[in-house]
Amino acid sequence: MKIEPFALERWMSGYEMLVECDLSVGGITSLTMNDLLALEPAAQREQILDGLLGARLGYSEARGSLELRSAIAATYRNCGPENILVTTGAIEANFLLLNVLLNAGDSVVAPDPAYQQLASVPRAIGCDVALWKTRPENGFRYDLRELEQLVTPRTRLIVVNIPHNPTGAILLEEELRHVYALAESVGALVLCDETYRWLALEGSDPCAPPVFDLGPAGISVGTLSKTFGLPGLRIGWIVAPEPIVQACWAMRDYISLCPGTLSDALACIAFRHRERIMARNQAIIQQNLQIVQDWLQQQRGVFSWQPPRGGLLSMIHCNLAMPSLEFANRLAEEYKVMFVPGIKFGFEHYFRLGLGQRSAVFTEGLQRTSAFVAQLQASGVSSIA
Ligand SMILES: Cc1ncc(COP(=O)(O)O)c(C=O)c1O
Repeated sequence: MKIEPFALERWMSGYEMLVECDLSVGGITSLTMNDLLALEPAAQREQILDGLLGARLGYSEARGSLELRSAIAATYRNCGPENILVTTGAIEANFLLLNVLLNAGDSVVAPDPAYQQLASVPRAIGCDVALWKTRPENGFRYDLRELEQLVTPRTRLIVVNIPHNPTGAILLEEELRHVYALAESVGALVLCDETYRWLALEGSDPCAPPVFDLGPAGISVGTLSKTFGLPGLRIGWIVAPEPIVQACWAMRDYISLCPGTLSDALACIAFRHRERIMARNQAIIQQNLQIVQDWLQQQRGVFSWQPPRGGLLSMIHCNLAMPSLEFANRLAEEYKVMFVPGIKFGFEHYFRLGLGQRSAVFTEGLQRTSAFVAQLQASGVSSIA
């Protein structure tokens, strides 16, 4: 397969080892193994640790252990372990599904902007990809009327991502049901990348349930990477009707074979304590939301934003007359702060802000950004008219 470069990953890899404050971080600041173990009852910790240290590092059960698949399945409606395939992150889940479900010449609807693989992989397969755009002009919302224009009798798959990376857009339940009905009306499937599932932002409308819950045309993708704060485990999953799971499993035999043994075991611990992990992570988001609101007030209009409606990412606008890529490169090089330039998503003068950073680092990153802005203004960089 010939595939275009993953633009954002290429840009980030140039700076991720250099920066000290990542304001664009895609997930929640990660947990340690100690944090995970501390969630277990004190009396059992030693035994659990012994179990991990004594675990045989052989290949694990290919689809993911029954314990893990059962724990994942319990978070969906009418779902059993046979509906789950544990994968190497959501990235492998998406890759397998797109390759299993699509053929050259198929029509696909994919969100734009988006986590790039969602459109690049179908394009590399040779599909005809129609882009469902979220834009600043519509407040970074998914517009169902636009989707209606994009879906045709030839559409095989509608790909959505809720909550959305990078804008924080969501679909409400009735809106996702509308997407599902549109897909059903043309015999298509809906693949929903639910990487940012679980966090509920205070005061926001509740995000739609997983698309798998809506019926057999719905396929969900999940991961421990973002809202759980466990990206290093590389544990994601597919939730789909069994034949699709089987087909993805067969393709996976050629790619990564099975999850890491320790990752599977640690993922089981994470699922046992999902609610406490989410409470920890929700508190980080709420604190950072307050920090950014306070910071914005001090910026005297230089920055403005639409807070995320779901998840932890959103686009923040900067009214300085400087291209976002130049701003981001200099901020990384001179101030060691990472702010993903909006141009990587097609939005000039925007940056992607992530709310999952440790609050002290988040505050420091914002302060350094203010210092950079002051330096630019002093050197004569003006505002956009
Ligand atoms: C929307 C979306 N899907 C999938 C992924 C891949 O995540 P994972 O670490 O689970 O492979 C990401 C990572 O940024 C993402 O933002």
